[in-house]
Amino acid sequence: MIIDQLKLEELRFAALQAREMAYAPYSHYTVGAALLTKSGKIYQGGNIENASYGAANCAERTAIFKAVSDGCREFHSIAVAGGMEGCTPTDYAYPCGICRQVMQEFAGETFRVFVVKSETDYREISLKELLPYGFGGESIR
Ligand code: THU
Repeated sequence: MIIDQLKLEELRFAALQAREMAYAPYSHYTVGAALLTKSGKIYQGGNIENASYGAANCAERTAIFKAVSDGCREFHSIAVAGGMEGCTPTDYAYPCGICRQVMQEFAGETFRVFVVKSETDYREISLKELLPYGFGGESIR
């Protein structure tokens, strides 16, 4: 499918919207992610915290694992938005190290990452910039 600007606008909006599904009663920092498959489907995810803090799952991984467990592994891009609960993001929310590693597992050369503050305020950053010298499956083959 051809992914156009309109679809990417939809993706960024879906990330902002996914914050509403976050479960963040401990940090009160809600993150939304929206993952676009090459076939044009969008998977949304929110962060899911736990009373045992280390058991929390980030929004990006929620979206990626939803897609992979649904049989999708070919991804065009991901958009991420984070901020204090009930508030518009004040900063770009860059993916944590674990999420960068999980993205690398499924991202091809053309995979795109957007960090989003609002529908009109966002920036694009490559996974190479986020995870230089990343460890991948080819390293252990
Ligand atoms: N969080 C994400 O969802 N994605 C990230 O890339 C960074 C952090 C979540 C985890 C936790 O629920 C909250 O943000 C505060 O760290």
